[in-house]
Amino acid sequence: MERTSRDLIIAIDGHSSTGKSTYAKLIAKELGYVYVDSGAMYRAVTLYCMEHGLFDQTDEPEAGEVNAHLEHLYITFRRNPETGVNETCINGRVVEQEIRSMAVSDHVSYISTLPDVRTQMVELQREIGQDGGVVMDGRDIGTVVYPHAHIKIFMTARPDVRAERRRKELEGKGIDEDFEKVKRNIMERDRIDSGRATSPLKQAEDAVLLDNSEMTIAGQMSWFYETFGKRLKAHGEED
Ligand code: DC
Repeated sequence: MERTSRDLIIAIDGHSSTGKSTYAKLIAKELGYVYVDSGAMYRAVTLYCMEHGLFDQTDEPEAGEVNAHLEHLYITFRRNPETGVNETCINGRVVEQEIRSMAVSDHVSYISTLPDVRTQMVELQREIGQDGGVVMDGRDIGTVVYPHAHIKIFMTARPDVRAERRRKELEGKGIDEDFEKVKRNIMERDRIDSGRATSPLKQAEDAVLLDNSEMTIAGQMSWFYETFGKRLKAHGEED
């Protein structure tokens, strides 16, 4: 098959609420790539477990119980013809709104510590990105899912900046949350994501760090082309 610059894989990892998905979506749009939100998959597993009562009595349901539910869970993405946005589905049911709730955010880090959940999600992520031309964001994309990604970015920002962005995002969706509560959730997710035994969140050695605390989206796009323009061009010429 003829290779084109569409084959590139761009991995964007980083801390919670650093604007990874906004950034990844925009890069995908400009390059004509597919955007894949790997966090949505962990959120979908979490929602499914919540709906089946696994979190009713405990914050840490047993791995065996979660695994039993995994067998009945098919995660897919469907393009909404009206908005053009890719929506996450559980067994064909659109759950894009539900997976963004604070309740899901409170439990998702635990679910993402479970090795069997990760194995299944990584398999799905590799399958979706196998032809390249993809921008995928998450926590372990450049380290585990695509260690040979052509471009790797690791995003971070100061906790206060991240909490305020997230609070505003929720407000925009009609959900009023206290700043301190949002900040605590973000800090707690960072702690669990970075400390877990399986695929902890960490910057890949060959990832380029982007601290966007003081940057606009336009500034981040300029940074992207300044940093990777040569690589994008070289790849295009190689083909
Ligand atoms: O990107 P997000 O905030 O929607 O991700 C939700 C959670 O999923 C996050 O707290 C950690 C987990 N996650 C992960 O462990 N690995 C990924 N590749 C993506 C997300």
